[in-house]
Amino acid sequence: MTKAIRFEKTGGSDVLQYVDVDLPPPGPGQVRVRNTAIGVNFIDTYQRTGLYKLPLPSGLGSEAAGIVEAVGEGVSRFKPGDRVGYASGFVGAYAQAANVPTARLMKLPEGISDEIAAAAMLKGMTAQYLLRRIHPVQAGETIVFHAAAGGVGQIAVQWAKHLGATIIGTTTSPSKVEQCKANGCAHVLNTHDAGWEKKVREITGGAGVPVVYDSIGKDTFLAGLDCLRPRGIMVTYGNASGPVDPFSPALLAQKGSLFVTRPILGHYTSTPEELQQTADDLFAVLASGAVKVAINHRYALKDAAKAQDELVANRTTGATILIP
Ligand SMILES: NC(=O)c1ccc[n+]([C@@H]2O[C@H](COP(=O)([O-])OP(=O)(O)OC[C@H]3O[C@@H](n4cnc5c(N)ncnc54)[C@H](OP(=O)(O)O)[C@@H]3O)[C@@H](O)[C@H]2O)c1
Repeated sequence: MTKAIRFEKTGGSDVLQYVDVDLPPPGPGQVRVRNTAIGVNFIDTYQRTGLYKLPLPSGLGSEAAGIVEAVGEGVSRFKPGDRVGYASGFVGAYAQAANVPTARLMKLPEGISDEIAAAAMLKGMTAQYLLRRIHPVQAGETIVFHAAAGGVGQIAVQWAKHLGATIIGTTTSPSKVEQCKANGCAHVLNTHDAGWEKKVREITGGAGVPVVYDSIGKDTFLAGLDCLRPRGIMVTYGNASGPVDPFSPALLAQKGSLFVTRPILGHYTSTPEELQQTADDLFAVLASGAVKVAINHRYALKDAAKAQDELVANRTTGATILIP
């Protein structure tokens, strides 16, 4: 038996139930992880509301750090006592313990605490593939990064600055402007202000930016295209305000032969090797001190619904974790 958050139907946070569940011994290729800290991510809310579909009833949560308690048949890379983390390609992290496929498991280095790992793996590996692989950020570039005070935002903005970029960050919450600046934004715009995209043009002397990293979706996508220089890339990687409306590819020609990509972390961590390399790149930048992770919100596992409500209501900065 273990305590876990489960839900039987999609909806508001009141569908989340804190219940006892049977946890069988880990199956072939799985290990049982005793979770010590659990990451809260926006994707958890998309899955709860049904925007991203899960077979129901279901557990919830993609990310946690913990200790290997038992290993299933055929597992040789991990042994009981190992400190590990997982952060995508698995659902059911909102639990005291979970059986996780080793293909999604990473070893945690000394110097990265369980709480920091749970707060940083999913968000930081996302920052890694956004900044280092989709559009490798170059020193001297000016870029737009939306939700710059948020969980992904705090890591990505510090990392982009470390790479030598000038960051135009955005927030819809005036109270978070200082946090955006503290993360490393040279300019902070409010995307609720009409014409914010024109300010991006002004800041770049009319040139536009080579890349917009957009996790807001519906509210910011079109204006974001107007921030881009010719052949720039719009990286639309989230839906905090709802999914992007359909549009014609001809729009991309009209606005400067633009590129658009809609990536997910799973496709950038598709093998155990790629997963561990992505994590190691993140752990290195954390260990160097160039990127610091603020865990600004901690909740007991049983209060997962409250943690999600705060995230969705824009009342969080930095990372939120659950303690089992
Ligand atoms: N595709 C991927 O691989 C991937 C991986 C990880 C995360 N993501 C996406 O990245 C985004 C950030 O995730 P996170 O967990 O770190 O969350 P977060 O950034 O801490 O929280 C989302 C933020 O979005 C902003 N926002 C703007 N308009 C909003 C609206 N209408 N409703 C709610 N929020 C709004 C709010 O910041 P302000 O108050 O500053 O406006 C809010 O705090 C999410 O969209 C998530 O889905 C994508």
